[in-house]
Amino acid sequence: MVSILLIDPDIEQHCSLQIILAPEFRIVSAYTGETGLERMKCESPEIVLLSMNLPDIDALDLLQLITSTIHSPPVIMISENEDLSLITRSIRIGAYEYLKKPLVMEKLKPCLLKALYYYSSICRIDETGNGPPELSKFIGESRQIQKIKRLILRFAPSNIPILIAGESGTGKEIAANSIHALSTRNQGPFIAINCGAIPPTLINSELFGSEKGAFTDAVSRPGSFEQANRGTLFLDEIGEMDLRSQVHLLRIIENQEIIRTGGIRKIPVDVRIVTATNKNLQHAVNNREFRNDLFYRINTFTLTIPPLRERICDIPYLAGHFIASIGKDSHELTLGALYKLTEYSWPGNVRELKATIERASMLTDNHKIEARHILFNQ
Ligand SMILES: Nc1ncnc2c1ncn2[C@@H]1O[C@H](COP(=O)(O)OP(=O)(O)OP(=O)(O)O)[C@@H](O)[C@H]1O
Ligand SMILES: [Mg+2]
Repeated sequence: MVSILLIDPDIEQHCSLQIILAPEFRIVSAYTGETGLERMKCESPEIVLLSMNLPDIDALDLLQLITSTIHSPPVIMISENEDLSLITRSIRIGAYEYLKKPLVMEKLKPCLLKALYYYSSICRIDETGNGPPELSKFIGESRQIQKIKRLILRFAPSNIPILIAGESGTGKEIAANSIHALSTRNQGPFIAINCGAIPPTLINSELFGSEKGAFTDAVSRPGSFEQANRGTLFLDEIGEMDLRSQVHLLRIIENQEIIRTGGIRKIPVDVRIVTATNKNLQHAVNNREFRNDLFYRINTFTLTIPPLRERICDIPYLAGHFIASIGKDSHELTLGALYKLTEYSWPGNVRELKATIERASMLTDNHKIEARHILFNQ
């Protein structure tokens, strides 16, 4: 989760920020400059909010200390009175921004998001991303994504089947890839099959292979299970699979051996199954559209990826990542653009964000992506 270190003697300020910024941001409190410095070291906050009036240290001296560290987080100065000379000095020392108290959500939120966007770009340039490299493609610092990464680290090494649930475009395939990369099977293949895209008449031969003559034009060929041997088979949109194929699938998972369509030979397979769905499978079971026994087999552990609109903290990180990945590192999102991105409901989730950022990068004729370049599908 994104942590904000608030260094401010004003106790009420701490209470009000805890309330208005929860649950997306975690407030780490320090009431003096000295405790602020200590918290800096042990908490590694992503953003610092620093009061201009501290009881023990001159705020500008503290600012100097914080901004002189290598991966210094952005520091936002806050004060009740607008002392222009102090503000200018703090900006010269390296303060990221200045905000006048009282801190109102309309001004604070975009400022924090912009600071996060800036901080994520520093981390990317310095390659100081935390966590194992296998998770580095799975971008997100929100509390929810951090939790998902922790669960992936915990469950990836075992062989248990994992069901990944979440709306379309939330990153289920990225999660499945990370599970494979962090498992003991990572030297083996990762085979992904979209069950929703294959007609019911072909799904069996696709999964289990076929022998010559099994049906018109059939050739002898291995299916996904054999291809994924000693690796991971990712069955996307498992909720779309027809009931007959579900029976086959369950039998193969239980016996760990397949018989190709039209064949008689039993072929042993050693495959870890990861599935994904954007449907509520429990509802599908209740409606008899999905087999109860298969559901319990694949659902030993469920990882639910929340929609993007419920984790807007990830937007600055993701947006920066997508800009960098299309080679437009010099492009920068303006505050207005970022704000527009975080106000939208993202029905297509991260996939839609990626497309929106790519479009915006093409629309700008200088290096600034502004709100007018952000065009939504709806
Ligand atoms: N956390 C993330 N970090 C980086 N890229 C992401 C993340 N989540 C999603 N993406 C990107 O968004 C796009 C959609 O992700 P993905 O294919 O994993 O979604 P999905 O949940 O499997 O979607 P669907 O239900 O439509 O199959 C991909 O281009 C992926 O790289
Ligand atoms: Mg998918």
